[in-house]
Amino acid sequence: MRLFIDSSNVSQIKSLNEYFPIDGVTTNPSIIVKEQKPFLPLLKEIRNVIGEDKLLFVQTLSTRAEDIIEEARYIHDTLRGNLVVKIPVTKEGIKAIKTLSQENIHTLATTVYTPMNAYVAAKAGANYVAPYVNRIDNLTGDGIRVVYEIMAIFQKFNFSCEVLAASFKNVQQIKEVSLTGAHGVTVSPDLIEAFLSNPPIKENVEQFRNEWIQLYGEENATLLEGKRKDD
Ligand code: G3P
Repeated sequence: MRLFIDSSNVSQIKSLNEYFPIDGVTTNPSIIVKEQKPFLPLLKEIRNVIGEDKLLFVQTLSTRAEDIIEEARYIHDTLRGNLVVKIPVTKEGIKAIKTLSQENIHTLATTVYTPMNAYVAAKAGANYVAPYVNRIDNLTGDGIRVVYEIMAIFQKFNFSCEVLAASFKNVQQIKEVSLTGAHGVTVSPDLIEAFLSNPPIKENVEQFRNEWIQLYGEENATLLEGKRKDD
């Protein structure tokens, strides 16, 4: 399951990309405006941080298919590297996805709430769909079940479209999504950090070090002590 950072904060992206096995960055208009910066230089900065191979997702704003297509072509030509254009699954959005798939511009159908939203998008040629797990739960739906059903439909009909689940409030939802076999998840920086924030890990590491130090001493709390002796 691929892991994407759902953020446009450059310093958080830099740090997470250094420490975690990250496959790219997803953004949307709300995420971009949080940074209070001109959007194009910001996206170029993110591209510089993650490099050209990792995926960068940028969402269109227009509501008419012709305008969505124009925005998609522009952002595709302007930003280097592996770029995916996010398009909401409105009727106009689906029309735009159909045209863009003919032009080999990769798209992700976003704001997906039902399996049929995803089916239409995949059939129109979207490369990815993004079901909004937590927002579905907030509507008293079952976000995880929606992901399961999308996966089942795509597998039954051999759609090559990938499921990139989005909108998470906790790590449990992400674990549940991983059990569906979803191709990827896009996760906020704080939740990615929370993957490793279990208190016992730190305690265990301290205990290992303390036991070692009691026998070998603080200055020798390293396996390199053996190397020093060999030299
Ligand atoms: O990428 C879509 C995602 O950011 C939506 O998440 O947390 O705003 O529901 P959220």
